[in-house]
Amino acid sequence: MDYLKIQGDTSLEGSITIAGAKNAALPLIAMTLLAKNSVTINNIPDVVDIKTLLKLLHNLGATFTMDDNSVKINTTDVTHTMATYDIVKTMRASILVLGPLLTRFGHCEVSLPGGCAIGQRPIDLHLKALEQMGASITIYGGYIRAEAPNGLKGAHILFDKITVTGTANIVMAAALAHGKTVITNAAREPEVVQLCEVLRESGVGIEGIGTSELVVFGTDRRLIEIEPFSVIPDRIEAGTYLCAAAITRSPLTLKNIRTDHLEAVCGKLSEMGFKIQRDTTTISITPTETIKAVDIVTQEYPAFPTDMQAQFLALATQADGTSTIEERLFENRFMHISELQRLGAEIKLNGHIATIKGPTKLFGADVMATDLRASSALVLAAMAAEGETNVHRIYHLDRGYEKLEQKLQSLGAEIERLRE
Ligand code: EPZ
Repeated sequence: MDYLKIQGDTSLEGSITIAGAKNAALPLIAMTLLAKNSVTINNIPDVVDIKTLLKLLHNLGATFTMDDNSVKINTTDVTHTMATYDIVKTMRASILVLGPLLTRFGHCEVSLPGGCAIGQRPIDLHLKALEQMGASITIYGGYIRAEAPNGLKGAHILFDKITVTGTANIVMAAALAHGKTVITNAAREPEVVQLCEVLRESGVGIEGIGTSELVVFGTDRRLIEIEPFSVIPDRIEAGTYLCAAAITRSPLTLKNIRTDHLEAVCGKLSEMGFKIQRDTTTISITPTETIKAVDIVTQEYPAFPTDMQAQFLALATQADGTSTIEERLFENRFMHISELQRLGAEIKLNGHIATIKGPTKLFGADVMATDLRASSALVLAAMAAEGETNVHRIYHLDRGYEKLEQKLQSLGAEIERLRE
């Protein structure tokens, strides 16, 4: 397995270009199952999760060609409707093929995604909504068997909890359904917004985009024509690099981003004393003499994103005073704390609230990545630590960060990928 060797006391400078958003690209790739034409998607990030979903579509009978950060996908010859365990177990977001397969073919079998490190992550809300749309669903042998032989019918869905992939799944299911679907308590994340925008531009009637109430007018199972489009920039990758600059007290400029997707993250960095300058597609951060302690609660968009919690927890170890971070979305998303403590961080966890004392001098050590965002937090802390740190099990990192060590090297970090 690969690991990253990082020399601490890093100073960064310069600028980098942010890649397309993994969490936008995944539903948009699943959406191609609704198309009658070959779909070209630009600004696709070069990360493992994308390769996994493309492999899944290929196994169903789709064909695709990759060219740099563009992919052209043709699902017109898809004949299989079974998403098998071997793939789904490696990436939970495979569940995003459930809605499109069911609404197009009237039946499908999708392996139940196991839990994952950060929590049990059920999909009960996805299934309940599809049943409300007329599907009959049975769970057998670790698989979801869904049937809707005459297609799905529009319904009024009220999500008990805001679910990002749940909303995406039901929007795609509703796109080819018979009649109107209303989704109340829908997710408003930018990744869901882009999925709705592309569907609307492809002829699916959708109202309320960006709000918590979506109305989708189905096409009665007529496939749609999807014109080429580009994936929105990755707001979490952008936030991660802003934290890299912040924790190493370096200036940094990020290009090709949607600054309107980073309001909560930039707000917290400003609260901590960093100077943030932005226009619509670039952000620059300037270091501050004293990093102020901060209080953070993770919530659904547009509030502070759970996917930035680990990175800010690492940053808080360098803040002057006591910070608190409350994780409200996932039940086990603090595994990075024990690894940060190995570097010398002073953190206490009480239920879902972490209390971080700072500033604490961090010292290099061997640490282990446990999930995607936790691994990025360890890289940030390693750059601020004195001495050498090895971050192990970075396959977690490769799932969602494109060329991370190359981008950091280009900014001056001493970081290299080695093999155990
Ligand atoms: C998406 O996961 C993201 N993944 C996650 O990013 C992100 O952390 C999460 O949304 C929250 O923003 C992708 O988009 C591929 P949820 P998702 O359904 O859709 C509960 C990353 O680091 N819930 O919004 O799986 C669930 O347990 C990843 O890139 C149910 O109870 O998250 C959680 O507590 C990690 N039943 C809450 O809702 C359901 O049927 C939010 O989950 C569905 C969800």
